[in-house]
Amino acid sequence: MYTLMYNITQIKMILYIGFIIEHIYYVLQRNFYVFIFLYMFLCPESIIIGMHNNTVPPQVMHTPGGRNGAIMENYQITRWCAQFIRQQVQEGDLCIDATMGNGNDTLLLSQLCGETGRVLAFDIQNKALKSTEERLHKHDTPHNYKLILDSHTNLENYAEPGSVSCIVFNFGYLPGGSHELCTKPDSSLCALTQALTLLQKGGLLSLCIYSGGDSGFEERDAILSWLKQLDPHSFLVIKSEYYNRPNHPPIPVLVIKL
Ligand SMILES: C[S@@+](CC[C@H](N)C(=O)[O-])C[C@H]1O[C@@H](n2cnc3c(N)ncnc32)[C@H](O)[C@@H]1O
Repeated sequence: MYTLMYNITQIKMILYIGFIIEHIYYVLQRNFYVFIFLYMFLCPESIIIGMHNNTVPPQVMHTPGGRNGAIMENYQITRWCAQFIRQQVQEGDLCIDATMGNGNDTLLLSQLCGETGRVLAFDIQNKALKSTEERLHKHDTPHNYKLILDSHTNLENYAEPGSVSCIVFNFGYLPGGSHELCTKPDSSLCALTQALTLLQKGGLLSLCIYSGGDSGFEERDAILSWLKQLDPHSFLVIKSEYYNRPNHPPIPVLVIKL
């Protein structure tokens, strides 16, 4: 009875649609894996992330402005050390930047110790003094600093023993300058020894140690051996490590005078 309600054209349409559905089903079934494969290329990130068994999309890790980009910047060696320097330095403190370079650490120390504090910054290159002066000027820092064109092997001529809150060493060469004029093992150890004498009790020595490439390994090894033999009753030495980073990553070290 019911079929009587359909005319020929409608029956043709139903057959035609049925044919198309069956054909699509056949194609889908035969090419199931091809579709899955194509989908993975075109699909949202979430599927790819699932495959990598990693909650962080790889591209985000390299996006400078992205959340992870910011995290990676914060864990860069100088920023890592800066966190501890910030905790240490108080308004009115005397601080030393033993390797002034372009003045990033001098700027930080100057801002932290304020109008009533004092920063002595050392470098053997005039270029470093100029660059630092410009940086400090640009940031309108308090006039609490002295930029000294002298080797850090003469640190003890500029401050009293036990008077300094924080001393920063960022070894290596001036970024954008001659690689020949880098810090050297003997002079570095001489300066570090003096630095320990100048530090007050509870004072902090912050070290950024580089190796490989132009820096080689001699200075790194000399500094690490020197640190190892420091009297544990007088100094606490904390050495951090970029444990899974290849190619001789830099080594941040903190020394606290007990
Ligand atoms: C890696 S850079 C320092 C970077 C600096 N902290 C900054 O924020 O730009 C090392 C600096 O140490 C300086 N230097 C090398 N030997 C030195 C010495 N005996 N006394 C003082 N500075 C020295 C170099 O000229 C260079 O500018």
